[in-house]
Parts: sequence; structure tokens; C-alpha cells
Amino acid sequence: MPPHSVPSSVVQRVESLRRQLREHDYRYYVLAQPTISDEEYDRLMRELLELEKSYPSLVTPDSPTQRVGGQPTKEFPTVTHAVPMLSLSNAYTEEEVRDFDRRVRSLLGNETFRYVCELKFDGVAISLVYREGVLWCGATRGDGVQGDDITQNLKTIRSIPLRVIGSKKGLMNFEVRGEVFMEREDFRRMNEERESAGEKPFINPRNSAAGTLKLQDPKIVASRPLKFVAYYLRADGVALKSHYENLQLLKELGFPVSPHIRRCSTVLDVIEFWKEWEEKRDALPNDIDGVVVKVDSLAQQERLGAIAKSPRWAIAFKFASRKATTRLKGITLQVGRVGTITPVAELEPVFVGGTTVSRATLHNEDYIRELDIYPGDVVVVEKGGDVIPKVSGVVLEHRASGSKPFAMPKTCPACGSKIFRPAGEANYYCENGECPAQIKGRIEHFAHRGAMDIEGLGEAVVDQLVELGFIKNYADLYELHKKRDQLVDLERWGEKSVENLLNAIEKSKEKPFWRVLFAIGIRHVGAGMAQLVAASFPSMKKLMEATREELESVQGIGPRIAESIIRFFADKHNRKLVERLKKAGLKMEEQHICVRTDTPFAGKTFVLTGTLSAMTRHEAKERIEQLGGKVASSVSSKTDYVVVGEEAGSKLTKARELGIETLDEGRFLALLGQAENV
Ligand code: IVH
Repeated sequence: MPPHSVPSSVVQRVESLRRQLREHDYRYYVLAQPTISDEEYDRLMRELLELEKSYPSLVTPDSPTQRVGGQPTKEFPTVTHAVPMLSLSNAYTEEEVRDFDRRVRSLLGNETFRYVCELKFDGVAISLVYREGVLWCGATRGDGVQGDDITQNLKTIRSIPLRVIGSKKGLMNFEVRGEVFMEREDFRRMNEERESAGEKPFINPRNSAAGTLKLQDPKIVASRPLKFVAYYLRADGVALKSHYENLQLLKELGFPVSPHIRRCSTVLDVIEFWKEWEEKRDALPNDIDGVVVKVDSLAQQERLGAIAKSPRWAIAFKFASRKATTRLKGITLQVGRVGTITPVAELEPVFVGGTTVSRATLHNEDYIRELDIYPGDVVVVEKGGDVIPKVSGVVLEHRASGSKPFAMPKTCPACGSKIFRPAGEANYYCENGECPAQIKGRIEHFAHRGAMDIEGLGEAVVDQLVELGFIKNYADLYELHKKRDQLVDLERWGEKSVENLLNAIEKSKEKPFWRVLFAIGIRHVGAGMAQLVAASFPSMKKLMEATREELESVQGIGPRIAESIIRFFADKHNRKLVERLKKAGLKMEEQHICVRTDTPFAGKTFVLTGTLSAMTRHEAKERIEQLGGKVASSVSSKTDYVVVGEEAGSKLTKARELGIETLDEGRFLALLGQAENV
């Protein structure tokens, strides 16, 4: 459609939606102070997406819809940096920083000057070029002169503005540099997911940020929790005075800038800043490996200039290393509670980052191969801010001649049965359901709150029951009542607690089918996946009969999960357990909850606020949903009714502002009663 045929009201709406979304991205990702709910944000985004779909000529590269627009590439184009990206020389001791300070002072001929101290983020340096306020090109440092054009990947990072917010000092064409990094908690969660999905874990947050930016598919990059922090601004033709002011300008343009910066006028203040952060570094959400000290005045920076590849006006003042080298005595295998086999490094004890380390996980055989570690090697042991020691490298020069690479044993160290590595996965598993290393873990998982939710059947009780031979697997739980008298006589037990446990076991039979599916411990079938599987295969029988093709035809079930389900039911032992659960009376079919469409609730959106006296919020939600209504978590113009309980808060105010009908508890109950009795 040619642009002139787009109605001007649409153009205006599109502009307004973009402005709002940009503002909300900024509030959420840069300031961490969102002012609207996720639903409201999604609504704005959907509206914009729809308008852009109807009027494709309106799509611009800086539209908030274009963050994940890029197609996978084969190779990144090379770009040349307008000004080389220098690196910093390092100082490790106070003396070295004093030397740096003396040099600066003498070069400046005893003029007064100031430093700006900031944190040295442990991530990947990148450069962002903006033209007319719009992100034009984003690149890696590369060799400092030329880097890779990774614009599509960088656009997926929500804290990087696609268009600056407002124009400060006429700044429209400029370059920003900074660090892309991953927070430790995000990294941990991501690695946990990767490991449980049988994928290779990353070594540390820095490596995972670096590895992610090298990916050729921006969609995968978008799914990774990358963050950005800006620490450098360069603009042609605009008079900039100091680094400190540049950081303020960057903030005003909408870039995330670390709040932990300090102007220092003496080297003593610099050392003080360094000491403070050496102590506080673990309290930050991300890893830092030192502080960066920069001469503040840009004119003075210019006069100081650079030598070789680093400027004379700045230095990285590093923290004491949390790395050490030691000998890898051997690699043993550990069997997890659900059969995952993990290789463990047995190390010559070494003191690193405040403690003595003698063991560290090696994750899986690919990790060992990738790091090229042989048993007997001298390896690098590293401790990140999460204080978990990691083997992160090898000192090849110290490899003894004749040493051999690690070969994964063929059998489980706990039970001797053959171990198995599914195609496309990094982990080996022991599949013997009666493996002593797994018996307790499998039962614990079965009884866990998210699964069958058997109260009182925690780790200690499972340990006791297994060790005394009362149970060997989860199906045995449902025959435990036959041993009531023996249980009552046990140490720390009695009539009451045995009764409670048996009741809890009995009650678990009421749990829906998807929970049973989750509880039986099919690899990679977590609670969410179990619900998805149950929705498409609504009975155990149907699922057991499903072919690989049928399983894979369901959106969300990939080959890995299909394979795992097939393997689970191919095992005689597992089939027998499921059969026994069925006999015990557990739910083997999905219950059909009938949702009504003929009530005044049908299609209406409710928001609950405050406390109701007649029921919990959860019950209220279930009853509304059974009557065909929806319950949203926040009030918007799409809300039809707000149900107001005791001590209602801001949602009530919002409802009044938007003129949405409110129901007090009495009216709500009356409406429910009428509708349920139709
Ligand atoms: S300034 C010429 N500031 O450290 C100045 N760098 O070896 C160049 N880094 O490549 C960089 N935090 O990846 C600067 N606050 C910070 C930094 C920082 C981390 C990294 C950056 C750079 C390396 C220097």
C-alpha cells in the first residue's frame, strides 16, 4: 500500500503507540520502575503489531516491534570502527595505581584534574552507532580496529534503545560504547534450564554473554537474558566536556548507566573506591573484575593520548584474582537423584577466593572435551561471584606425556547398569529405576508439592522409609497402609503422624492426571510440559500408545521430549509402576472441566482486589472461570468488573478512575449464586 493511502489517524496512533512503548521499555529495562502491567504493555504492543500488519509501509527499523525482526545469518559483516576501540592497561596493586597517577600528573604538568571511577563490568565490549537518533549499527570490538556487525543481535537487548529518548545538546549522530553482560541469577537459571534439557551449560556469565552474541539467529539471542551498560560517548561536532557529564547525557538519552560512579580528586579516593567495591562486589547482581579509573576532562584525555593499544588517561584497577591452578587428580561420576550422571573433578586441594577447593562439577563429557581437559592435567579453578568453584581451563604446557583423554565409563557407579546418552543431549543417564542412588530422589520428586503434593513426605521421611525397607518406589506408597502397625512402632512416629501420612497419601489420589504425569518422572517433562502433554493426550492409555510422530506433531513437544516419553514407556519397570498406580486409583485421565458460555459471566473480565470473607481469591477465580469469565491481575480499560473485598488498594482507585463497575462481596456472591444455579 503506498504511504499516502494510510489515514493520518493511523499514522498518529502508530507514532503514539511507539512513543508509549519506548517509554515503557525505558522505565522497565533501564530504570527498573515500570508504571504499567505486563498485560497493558502487551495490549499496546499487539495494537501496534496489528496496525503494522495492515499498513506495512509504516514499519520502521526502530519500531519496538522490530527487536526480533532479523533473519538468521551465515556470517557477520565486518565493520571498521570510526575510532579504534582501545583496551585498558591493568593495575593490580595500590603501588601500580599510584604509578599511574604520578604519570598522569607529570604529563599534565601539575594542572588540576579529576578522575571518574566506575565498575569494570565483566562482559563483552560493544559499540553502538546512532544516526538521527536511531540505532544504525552495533558491533563487537574485534581486534579494536574492525569488529563484527551484530546489529540484529544487539537489537534484541531491551535496555539498548532503538531510538533515543529526546535529543540532548542536539545529539543525534553519535557512538556509544559499553558492555553486554548477564546477571548471575539469570545465568544460573538459564544454565539450570539448559542442563535439565540436556544442553551444554556455559562456564560463567561472561562466556555465556560472549557466546550468545556470536549466535547467528537473533531469535535465540532474544531468549537469553542479556543486559547492557553504557560507559562511553563520542559525538562529532558537539562540544562535550567531561566523561562524567557524558555519563549523565547517556542517561538522559535513555541508556542504562551504572549508578556506581564516583568523581575522585586524589589517588587516595580512587584506592578507597577500589577497596569498597572489592568488598561489596558479591552484593551486585553481576560480576565485576575491578574498577576503571578515567581522567574526567575530555580535553585532558586528548592531551594524554594513547600508547599502543591503551589510553594513557585510564587504567583498569583489577581485584585480586579468584583463579588458581591445581592438579586434576581424577574424574569421578556422580549419580543425581533422577539418574543424571555428572562428571566431577577431583582436585589437589587449592586455596582460591577465600576457601579450599577440592571438587568441582565438570557438567558433562562435552564440557570436558571442549575445555580439552585430561585427567592428571594442571587446570584453572575459578570462583565467580556465585562462589561456586568452576574448572575453567587447562595449562597445556604442564600436560604429562603419555596422558590420555577422559573416557566416559559405560556403567553407573552406583548400580553398575549401562548408562545411556540420548541423541542430541549432553548428559548420560542411568535408567535403572531401582538404582540405589535414585530410589529416594524419585520418590521425593513424586511426593513433592508441585507433583502429588503428599504432605509430610519430605526428604527425611523418604530416607527413613527407604532405608528401613518400607518402600522401594513410588508405587509402594499406596501399599504403605498395609504396614500401619509397623510404622506406628517406628522411632519418632506414632498413631497420629502415621495417620496423617496415610491420609495425605490417600488424598493424593485426587490429584489431576497432569500431576501424575509430572510425578512419575519422565525426563524433561516438567509441570508445564505435563499440562501440555495431558491436553493433547488426555489419558495414560492414549499417551502410552502415542507414536513418536504423533507426539512431535504437538506444538511445543520437540524430538527430545518425544524421545524421552517413548523411552520411559518402553521400559518394563516403568510400565509396571504406572499399572500399579492405576490399580491404586490415581487419576489416569484428564478431567473435563466444563466451561459455561450461557451465564452473565461468559466472556467478561474480572479483577479481584482486597480480601473476600466467603472464599479465597483462588476459589473466586476458579468459580468465575467455570462460569466462562476471565480473571486478570490488573485493572485496564478491558476490565468489566472489579470485585472489591476488604482493604482493597490501588486497583479500586484505578477502577474508579477508569469508570469500571465495581462489585462488593455481597453483590458478587449474589451474581455467582444466580449464575451457578441456572
Ligand atoms: S572503558 C579506552 N569502562 O574492559 C577505554 N571499559 O580492557 C575503553 N570494561 O574492552 C574502555 N567495564 O570491555 C571501560 N566501565 C568500563 C568498563 C570497561 C568493563 C571492559 C571493556 C574493555 C575492557 C578494557
